[in-house]
Amino acid sequence: MIELSKVSKRYESGKTHQDVFRDLSFKFEETGIYSVVGPSGSGKTTLLNLISGLDKFNKGSLKIFGKEISSLNQEQLSRLRRNFFGFAYQYHHLLENLNIFDNCMVSMANPDKDAIKKILKNLHISGCANKYPSTLSGGEKQRSSIARALCKQPRILLLDEPTGNLDEKNSNIVQDFILDFAGKTRCLLIYVTHDNNFANKAKCVLEISNRNIRNK
Ligand SMILES: Nc1ncnc2c1ncn2[C@@H]1O[C@H](COP(=O)(O)OP(=O)(O)OP(=O)(O)O)[C@@H](O)[C@H]1O
Ligand SMILES: [Mg+2]
Repeated sequence: MIELSKVSKRYESGKTHQDVFRDLSFKFEETGIYSVVGPSGSGKTTLLNLISGLDKFNKGSLKIFGKEISSLNQEQLSRLRRNFFGFAYQYHHLLENLNIFDNCMVSMANPDKDAIKKILKNLHISGCANKYPSTLSGGEKQRSSIARALCKQPRILLLDEPTGNLDEKNSNIVQDFILDFAGKTRCLLIYVTHDNNFANKAKCVLEISNRNIRNK
C-alpha cells in the first residue's frame, strides 16, 4: 500500500548538499507494524516526511494506494493526509487555542467523545482534557499529540519518537497502548524510535544505514 521504488532524497543548501537516501526501495503492507531505527541524522524523520508527502524526493517513485504522490498537487496532498494519515511528530503540532479534548475532537471526521475519553485515559492524561497545550509538560504534550493522532483512527499512523519524552513507566504504558491500538484498528503503523526494546516490539524492524533501509 506504500511502495517506494528507487527513491533518492538530497537536501541542498547553497553550494553544499547532503544525500539522505539513494535508490531506496521498500514496500509497506496495508496493515502491519513497522519500526524505524538508525543514528541521529540518518533520515528517519525525512522518511516519514517523504511518505506523507510533506517533503519531496528527487528521483524515483512513491505510491500510496497505487497513486504516485509526486504527481499530486498541494491540495491533493493535503486531502490525502487529512483522509488517511495520523501523525505525532517530534515537535508536537497541537492547536494552541484549543484544549486537549477539542484538539482530539477536530481531528475526527465523526467526533466521538467517549472514544476520546477512553484514549486519554489509556494514555494516562485524562487530567489534561481541559488544559491548553502551553500549560502542559513535554511528556503530557507528547501523549496529547499521540491521542489526537489515534482518535482519528487513521489508515496510516506515523509516529516520530512517540515516547522520547517519557519516563520508563509511562513509556511502556504508551508503547503497549499504541501497539494494541494499531493491531485492533488494523492500520499501518510506522514508528521511529531510539529505544531498542520498543523497536523490537514491531513485526518488522527497519534500520536506516548507507542511505538505504534494510530489515534488521
Ligand atoms: N530541511 C532540511 N534541510 C537541509 N537538511 C536537512 C533538512 N532536514 C533534515 N536535514 C538533514 O538530513 C539528515 C537527516 O535528517 P532527519 O531529521 O531525517 O534525521 P533523523 O534520523 O530523524 O535524526 P534524529 O534521530 O536526530 O531525529 C540530517 O543530516 C539533517 O541535517
Ligand atoms: Mg528525527
